[in-house]
Amino acid sequence: MAAAQHILCEYQQAEEKGVGLLRQLKTFAPTEEVAEEIAEQVEDELRHTRLFAERLKDLDIDCETLMEALAGIYDLAQECVDKKDWVRSIAIQTVIEELAMATFTNQLGKQDEETESVLREIIVDEQRHLEFGMRELNKVRQGNEEQIRDIHLKVGKIFILAFAENRLPQSIRNTAKKAHKMHQQRLRKIGVEVPGIADLA
Ligand SMILES: [Fe+2]
Ligand SMILES: [Fe+2]
Repeated sequence: MAAAQHILCEYQQAEEKGVGLLRQLKTFAPTEEVAEEIAEQVEDELRHTRLFAERLKDLDIDCETLMEALAGIYDLAQECVDKKDWVRSIAIQTVIEELAMATFTNQLGKQDEETESVLREIIVDEQRHLEFGMRELNKVRQGNEEQIRDIHLKVGKIFILAFAENRLPQSIRNTAKKAHKMHQQRLRKIGVEVPGIADLA
């Protein structure tokens, strides 16, 4: 399977995992309004799954590869939603959206025209999901900086481990680093200081 197509398989699986996590997250949203926004996100992610699946079918791609590299991040997210820990869950939601946006953006110019237009459509949604997460995180930030920092540090450690074990292709590696840095800047804007990935090694 070509690398560009292999990556579509991983996206599809990532979107599916996202749907599962968001459905659980919705059950302990602090307000009805926030729960509704999460429900809308679930619809978006389901649509993304369908879009990727359709592209894969059109391209006649057989999907069997698991997105092992990012498994740790989803496990961590699952842990947070299992505990119904809203602060940590929303913190990791923003990390996942940041990563999705950076990864899809990085694919622009590398896929066929039709896939590109699918990607552009998806990027707009991920941007909105990220903004939603940052807004919610900002609401609960005060007094919870330590939990937010904890998530950011754990994600960094997951990346470092994946890098060390050579489980990530170079392009994903660079995207992960970029996303982590962008997220650091985003957190700074809401008053949470976290160390960069270089400091984590
Ligand atoms: Fe998505
Ligand atoms: Fe999303």
